[in-house]
Parts: sequence; structure tokens; C-alpha cells
Amino acid sequence: MSMHDEHPTITAYPDGPLLVRGAIDLRDADGNAIEQRRRTVALCRCGLSAIKPFCDGTHKPAGFRTED
Ligand code: FES
Repeated sequence: MSMHDEHPTITAYPDGPLLVRGAIDLRDADGNAIEQRRRTVALCRCGLSAIKPFCDGTHKPAGFRTED
């Protein structure tokens, strides 16, 4: 099985982003394809990233918590 056939997985990272691994079809709100440079992408779920939909690490200094 090639990397392209790999079943995608989404891992909810504690106090951080959603890590998406595998081949996915990522689109913006208008349905346009969003270019992915890496096989693993981190999608922001704290709402504070400056590069949405991707995580830019801002969740950490912001003190974002998923378990409170
Ligand atoms: S989850 Fe990392 S910046 Fe939002």
C-alpha cells in the first residue's frame, strides 16, 4: 500500500491542534483546495492561529486547554 492510499487519521492533541495524518482533501470555506506541504497537518482548534486552518503554535502561550 502506498502512502497515498493510507487511511487518514485525526488525533486530538491535548491542549493543542488536531493532527491529521494521511491523504486528505482539505478545502477552504469556498471549496477551494488548500495546499498541503506536509503529510501531517495540524489544524487549529483554539481559534487563535494567524494561519488558519493550520495551527501556528499560538495555543501554547494562550494557555488553551482541552480538558478544563
Ligand atoms: S491549536 Fe495551535 S494555534 Fe490554535
